[in-house]
This record gives sequence, structure tokens and C-alpha cells, in this order.
Amino acid sequence: MDPIKRKFISKAEPQAAEIKKIIKENGSFVLGQYTVEQVYQGMKGMIGMVTETSKLDAEEGIRFRGYSIPELLQLLAQNKESGLEPLPEAMFYLLLTGEIPTADEIDIINTEWTMRSTVPKHVFDMLDMLPAKTHPMTQFSMAIMALQTESVFARRYRDGMNKKDYWDPMYEDVMNLIARLPRIAAYIYRNTYKDGVHIEPDPKLDWAGNFAHMLGFDTNEFKTLMRLYLTIHVDHEGGNVSAHTTHLVGSALSDAYLALAAGMNGLAGPLHGLAAQEVARWIIELRERYNGVPTKEQLTDYIKQTLADGKVVPGYGHAVLRKTDPRYLAQQIFAKRYMADDELFKIVQLLYDVTPEILKATGKIKNPWPNVDAHSGILLTHYGLVEYDFYTVLFGVSRAIGVLTSLLWDRALGSPIERPSSVTTEWIKNAVISDTPVSVE
Ligand SMILES: CC(C)(COP(=O)(O)OP(=O)(O)OC[C@H]1O[C@@H](n2cnc3c(N)ncnc32)[C@H](O)[C@@H]1OP(=O)(O)O)[C@@H](O)C(=O)NCCC(=O)NCCS
Repeated sequence: MDPIKRKFISKAEPQAAEIKKIIKENGSFVLGQYTVEQVYQGMKGMIGMVTETSKLDAEEGIRFRGYSIPELLQLLAQNKESGLEPLPEAMFYLLLTGEIPTADEIDIINTEWTMRSTVPKHVFDMLDMLPAKTHPMTQFSMAIMALQTESVFARRYRDGMNKKDYWDPMYEDVMNLIARLPRIAAYIYRNTYKDGVHIEPDPKLDWAGNFAHMLGFDTNEFKTLMRLYLTIHVDHEGGNVSAHTTHLVGSALSDAYLALAAGMNGLAGPLHGLAAQEVARWIIELRERYNGVPTKEQLTDYIKQTLADGKVVPGYGHAVLRKTDPRYLAQQIFAKRYMADDELFKIVQLLYDVTPEILKATGKIKNPWPNVDAHSGILLTHYGLVEYDFYTVLFGVSRAIGVLTSLLWDRALGSPIERPSSVTTEWIKNAVISDTPVSVE
């Protein structure tokens, strides 16, 4: 058994036992109440599941296994190759085990992922057959589905497997899938935008560096950006659409491929991961309209027009956060260090000055501050990755690390099928009017 796998199960087994004890001794403890408004409006604020890998604080932002992003930017930057930025391999280890990895442990993950990274030919053949106009996220999801032929979990389940062993083939699927995603994503990029001229992987590079290389961006700075980008997008607790979907589909014992493809279809929605693409499109249009960096007055007009057209300002607002997203700030630090004079970065900075007040004045938005997507696109554009329809695929490659790690924890902890109740408006009316809730089946 590889040492990372051994480490994982040494953590998961006692945790599973502890959870059984918590349920046995405190199973009827009341965690909260919820309202009619929450039931109608996306279940926000309702605690409905456990996700071990990360927790979102409305004021402070995301904490991965208890560590904030500024803390991790220091703690995870252990590889001299990565300069000041952390490595996604290190983040994976942290999410999987709850511990900060040593340099040796990072190397083991890197070696494992390199060994597992070969993508079967039929996946490329399938991608080659799609019409060129197929959105990159659709291609990404379809490629993950095509790869499902390789699921160790599906094979072992069909052969008959003790439920105590579910975590074992799930570990194999999770490692194999994460290892292969950069190759698949790069293939989609080169097929769609670079006339199908592909670049072979370089096994000497780290996971994110190799991804940058296969995309065709071989500078050290772009590799550094990829390491940062793929680290900070990994996880955002369990309730966001991509994480929740992966968890829900996995709860039916669908394997990692089926569950991740479903999660990626959620990430492809404009209110979730597609926002990065929308931000880039919106800012580039803005620059074209005003022939460069606009004045604050022009910016105000542009934002007000967006709102008057009944659209959201992309990259602003959040379902849980109530402050500027620390992932936005991590990217801002990168931009100040490497591309302070970039025109689009200047627009992003101006937007930060102007947008929150306008959004606050609408009187309805709960969080007028920027989220992660408000920044990421212009960093990519700066280095020449200008095909913004592809941006959500980059997000997906990173998010896979978080949602798949959680899926593995789900199987190791013996999580059951998820099945919340739903009611009709008629039922709500009866419950509210008579004030005596009817039981739900
Ligand atoms: C992220 C988002 C989906 C959260 O939705 P939410 O939890 O329902 O947000 P709120 O509770 O603050 O929404 C309250 C109102 O403010 C509006 N609002 C929220 N964000 C807004 C934005 N960026 N621009 C304009 N209006 C916005 C909502 O549309 C809603 O209006 P309504 O009552 O007329 O329907 C939302 O802020 C949004 O659409 N942002 C833009 C897209 C984006 O950046 N997504 C990436 C998220 S990481």
C-alpha cells in the first residue's frame, strides 16, 4: 500500500469510530431551526451535511483543515521550484490527512500522480469527434464520463465488495482521476484553440507546472500562477453546487467519475464557476467601450447599465461570504508582484473601488464584495490565455482535488445515501396557517 493511502486510512478509521460514537450519544442534539424563507431560497444557512476538508467563515473566508489562505501561502510553499506559491500536491495532502506535508510526502504524491497520468486513447478519440463549438466545460465533463471505463470502484463493486472496503478502490479512482485531469484539460484546450497541436507531458515537472507546459505556457511565471490558481480553487466547504453535487451523486455509490462529472456540470453554471468567464468577457467589453482604462464615472455608468439590464455584476457577491474573498486577495498579491502595470489589472482595481458602493445602494445584495472569480480571468489573460470560455475548466481541474478528497472521506466514513425531504407549497400553507407542521414522508 502506498504511504499516502496508509496515512489516509490511519486517519479515517478512528474518525469513523468517533462519528459513530457522536451519533450514538448525541444523535438527538438539536443543531438549529430553519424557516420557510430558507426552504424556498436555496437552503442557505441550513446545516445539512458534514464536510471534513474545509469550512467557510462568512467574515474570514475559507479555512482548509483550519488554516486560512494567508497561512497556507506560507506553510505550503515548500518546493523551491514553486517560488513563493504553494503546490496543489501539498493542498491535496492537507485536505486528505489534515496535516501539512513534508517535502518527501509532496514528492510521493507527485510521483504517484505522474505514474497514474496516462489517459486511454478512447477519451481523446471521443473528444476529437465533438463539434468544435462544444463548450470546453461540456467537453471536460464528457471526457470524465468517457474515462469512467477505468473506474476501479465500479469494477470492484460489480465483483462484490464488503462495504468496509469502499474507501480502498475509491482512493484508487480519486488518485487516478486527479492525475489525469491536467492532460485531459490541456487536450481540450489545444484541440479547441490551437488546431489540435498537442504538447506531450513532461514527467519531470510538478502537477501544475506540467499542466501549464501542456497548455503551451512554459514560462516560470505562468507555472507559478498555475500553482497558486490550482491551490486556492480546490475547496469551499460542502454546500456549494459542485461540492454538494459530487457528494450527493457519490452518496448513491456512484463512482468518482460519475460523481465528479455531475459536480463539473454544476460548476459550469454562470452563478457558480462560469462566473470567471463572465467576468473576463464583461471587463474586456468595458475596456473596448472606453478604449482602455475607464474613469470612475464611466465605470459607474457601466455597472449601473449592467444592473438596469437586469444582470448581475459578475464576480461580486457570495452566498455565504460577507467580506472580500481571501482567494481574490491572494490573486491581487500575485498581480501586484508580477503585473502591476497591466491594463486589465488596473480596471479590476478600479472596480474594487467603485462596485461595492453601487451594489450596496441596491439595498438587496447581502455581500457587495468581490469573490474569487472577479480576479482570476485577468491574470490568465495577462499571460496570453485569452480564451475565456476555457477558464472554468481550469477551475474544475482544481476543484476536483477538493470534491474528490471529500468523496473519499464520505466512503471511508460510511456516509449513507442522501435523501432530504421536500414539500409542496400547499403543505407549507397548511403548516404556516395552522401552525402545526404536518409530518413529511
Ligand atoms: C454568488 C451569488 C449567486 C449569490 O447569490 P445569493 O446568495 O442569492 O445573493 P444575495 O442573497 O446577496 O442576493 C440578493 C439579491 O441581490 C442580487 N445580487 C447578488 N449578487 C449580485 C451581483 N453581483 N450583482 C447584482 N445583483 C446581485 C441577487 O440577484 C438578488 O436579487 P433579487 O432579490 O432581485 O433576486 C450572487 O451574488 C451572484 O449572482 N453573483 C454574481 C455571479 C458570481 O460572481 N458568481 C460566483 C460566485 S463564487
